[in-house]
Amino acid sequence: MKALTLEGKAQIGYTSVIDPEIKKSQDVIIEVKATAICGSDLHVYHEREFGFDYGMVMGHEFVGEIVEVGKDVRAWKKGDMVMTPFTTSCGVCYFCQQGLTCRCIHGQLYGWVEKGEGLQGGQAEYVRVPLADTTLLSVPEGVELEEGLLLGDILATGYFCADRVDIFPEGTYVVIGCGPVGLMSIIGAREQGAEKIYALDSVPERLAQAEKWGAIALDYTQENISEIIADATEGRGADGVMEVVGNPAAMSTAWSLVRPGGVISSVGVHTSPHFSFSPAQAYDKNLTYRAGRCPARHYMPKLLPLVQEKKYDLTSVFSHRLSLAEGAKGYQIFDQKCDHCTKVVLYP
Ligand SMILES: NC(=O)c1ccc[n+]([C@@H]2O[C@H](COP(=O)([O-])OP(=O)(O)OC[C@H]3O[C@@H](n4cnc5c(N)ncnc54)[C@H](O)[C@@H]3O)[C@@H](O)[C@H]2O)c1
Ligand SMILES: [Zn+2]
Ligand SMILES: [Zn+2]
Repeated sequence: MKALTLEGKAQIGYTSVIDPEIKKSQDVIIEVKATAICGSDLHVYHEREFGFDYGMVMGHEFVGEIVEVGKDVRAWKKGDMVMTPFTTSCGVCYFCQQGLTCRCIHGQLYGWVEKGEGLQGGQAEYVRVPLADTTLLSVPEGVELEEGLLLGDILATGYFCADRVDIFPEGTYVVIGCGPVGLMSIIGAREQGAEKIYALDSVPERLAQAEKWGAIALDYTQENISEIIADATEGRGADGVMEVVGNPAAMSTAWSLVRPGGVISSVGVHTSPHFSFSPAQAYDKNLTYRAGRCPARHYMPKLLPLVQEKKYDLTSVFSHRLSLAEGAKGYQIFDQKCDHCTKVVLYP
């Protein structure tokens, strides 16, 4: 089959790889119908995260049709159209029971293979899905494939990020980063009752999309953000800050904008070994800091009605629809934020 593979630093190949096969009795094989490129793929692409095997199939956002079923699979049959969270999960371990499906003791992240161990990604024609009964969800009638893609990662992640800043309607919230996940955090915050949301980025089309979804968009490279947030809160600072970038500068901004006793919720994937603020600075702000991977499988059923309601034009976050063969170009434009790119979906 054809797949997008990691070939070196910032090098994505459209290569022929071995077709995936059922390895365990709970596996299924999916024929991918649509697959998206995520900001998390960029950390791998730039080798900010490293140790991966070259030749690994990239990607963790995909939807598709089941074409092969392991002998112990109960929930699925050939021909079912399914969506997936970006990690697999067993549904029964301690963490799954707590709703922390992203830390399932049997879970794996798609597109993460080191020294031959791990799970190949979904930017391919076919993909193997372990623990299929408890990982996958069906794409119901009326839900578009692209909506299924969003549910499996960025909508869930945005909602999760907002879920962890303890929203109350009178509060003032800041979203740092208006990439696709930041944009979904704005929607997540609104859905949880936030009325005043400031959104920071420097890319005009991303700021425009943030405004469209109800945020007050600010170009952090042009405006005095600290002053604006202080003015909006009688000098206190924001009640909650959602950090959706994953670099030290964004973490510093989060610390500087949050009020004493406020919350920072960080879903940006950080690759720096140190915090941008000190333990003393955390202490001095009585800070609550929450971070980590989204348990997307836990949030997907909860967010399905929001998608079905069609209240937001969610798929307008996709600026580019390309073929899988054009994947390397997709990575380039998404990474460089050129050609007005907000998010890329690829069709095998
Ligand atoms: N925790 C999770 O489960 C999870 C899930 C999905 C994605 N992520 C992470 O979320 C982050 C965002 O993903 P994305 O797909 O939106 O990526 P993206 O790279 O498209 O978006 C990041 C945005 O942040 C902006 N930015 C950069 N530095 C900034 C700064 N200092 N202040 C304000 N804005 C700044 C960029 O212009 C860009 O628009 C990534 O780190 C990704 O790995 C985490
Ligand atoms: Zn993703
Ligand atoms: Zn589990």
